[in-house]
Amino acid sequence: MALLIKGGRIITAADDYHADIYCENETITHIEPTIDPASVGSDVELVDAKGRYVFPGFIDPHVHIHLPFMGTNARDDYESASKAALAGGTTTLIEMICPGPDDEPMAAFEEWFTKADALAAVDYSFHMSVVRFDELARTQLRQIVQEQGIASFKVFLAYKGALNLPDSDLFDLLSMARELGVITTAHCENADAIDSMQQQLIGEGKTGPEWHEPSRPIAVEAEGVHHLCTFAELTGAHIYIVHTSCEPAVKAALDAQLRGVKVWVECVAPHMILDKSYAEQGDFVGAKYVMSPPLREKRHQDVLWNGLRARTISTIGTDHAPFDFQGQKGMGRDAFTKIPNGIPSVQERIDLIHHFGVLQGRIDLNTMVDACSTQAARLFGMYPRKGTIAVGSDADLVVYNPNHEHTLSVESSQSKVDYNAYEGWSVKGRAQVVTVRGKVQARDGEFTGEIGRGQLIKRKPTHF
Ligand code: URP
Ligand code: ZN
Ligand code: ZN
Repeated sequence: MALLIKGGRIITAADDYHADIYCENETITHIEPTIDPASVGSDVELVDAKGRYVFPGFIDPHVHIHLPFMGTNARDDYESASKAALAGGTTTLIEMICPGPDDEPMAAFEEWFTKADALAAVDYSFHMSVVRFDELARTQLRQIVQEQGIASFKVFLAYKGALNLPDSDLFDLLSMARELGVITTAHCENADAIDSMQQQLIGEGKTGPEWHEPSRPIAVEAEGVHHLCTFAELTGAHIYIVHTSCEPAVKAALDAQLRGVKVWVECVAPHMILDKSYAEQGDFVGAKYVMSPPLREKRHQDVLWNGLRARTISTIGTDHAPFDFQGQKGMGRDAFTKIPNGIPSVQERIDLIHHFGVLQGRIDLNTMVDACSTQAARLFGMYPRKGTIAVGSDADLVVYNPNHEHTLSVESSQSKVDYNAYEGWSVKGRAQVVTVRGKVQARDGEFTGEIGRGQLIKRKPTHF
C-alpha cells in the first residue's frame, strides 16, 4: 500500500517547510506543496499531518538489546526493544555486538544477527565490538566488514577483565580500521584507574550506588578520551566517542579535533537530563541510575547542550541498557561494582530531547533532527537512505504532535524492564504516526505494526 502524508511541517537537519509526502515501494517518491489524494489511486494510506511536524525516522546509534554483561543479560529482545523504539519515534537502531573475550567475532555476529532477524520491527545495524584481536579475529573482522555490511567497530577502554581491549591491540585495530575505512566507536574510561579506585572504596566500606560516580570521576573519562585520540592521531583512524558525559571529556575530543584528529562525539539522553543526585538516592533506589560513565554534576549538562547547539557534538543516542531493578540491579546490594550498568531510555529519548531541549530553547528543531537522526546516518554509512526526508530516501517518517502532553512511566513503556528512570515525568510532544519503509508501525505511543519486518541495513565503509 502507498502512503500519503498531507499538510505537515517537514523538519530536516537543514530545512523547515510545509509539503505533502507520497511514498511507494518503501521509499519517498514525491514531495510537493500539495498532492491531491484523488490523483494517487485508491490503495493509499492517508495520514493527516496538519499542525504536526514530519521528521525523518529517528536513529539511535547506541543501544544494547542482547547484552550478556556483569553476570546477567539485558532484559529486552528485539520485539520489546523495537516496540519501545517505535513508540518513541525511533525507526533504526544500531546495536552494540558485545562478545566475551574468548568468543569468535563471526560467531558473535551470527548470534546477534539471528536474534535481530527474527524479531526486529525497526531497521537495524550493529557496531562490532572488538574484545580480542588475534589472527583469527583479524580475518573474521575483515569478513564482517566486507561481507556482512558492518562498517563500524566498538572498543572498550573500560571494564577491566571483561570487555577491555589492551593498548597493543588497540593500536593495531585502529590501523586496520583506517585501512578498511571503518569508524571505531569507543567507550573511553581508564579501566585500570577505575579498578584501583573501586577496590579502595569497597575496602573502606563504601559500597552503595552513590559511590559509583566517585569510583570513575571525570578525569578518568577525560584521560580515556585523550588516550584514544592520541592513538587515532598516530594511526590516522576515524573515531567516535560514545556516551560523553562531562566537560573535560568533551574538551579532550575538541582539542584533538583542532589537532586534526578525525573524532566525533556522541552524548546520550540520560547524561543530558539526569544528574548524579539520582544515583545518590537512598534505599538502593540509586541503583536504577547506575551507568557508565556515571551521571555527573548538573553543570556538565550545559556543556553537552551547548556542544550540540554548536554542532560540535554530533549525535544523541541513549545507551539503552535495560536491567531490572528487582533481581538484576539487586545483584549489587552489597557492592556497587556488581550493579549491572545501564539506564533504559530508547522509548523516551525523542520526547525528552523535544521537551528539555527544543521547548526549553537549548537546541532548535533542525539540530534535534541532526543529532537524533541525520548525523548517525552520515557517520555510519546510511545517508541519504536514512536520516533525511528526500525523494529516494526510505519512507521512515515520524508525524509528531508537539503539543501532546503525557506522563512517562513503566506502564506505558514497551521495554520489558521493570522500572522507568523518568517515572511520573510529564513531557510535551509525542510521535503520532511512525512509519518504517512506508508502513505504519506505531501510532500514539503504541506499536501497531509487524514484528520481523525490520531489516539489517548493510553499510559500506566511508571513513577513508
Ligand atoms: O552503563 C552502561 N553504559 N551500560 C552499557 C554498557 C556500556 O558501557 O555501554
Ligand atoms: Zn559504554
Ligand atoms: Zn553502551
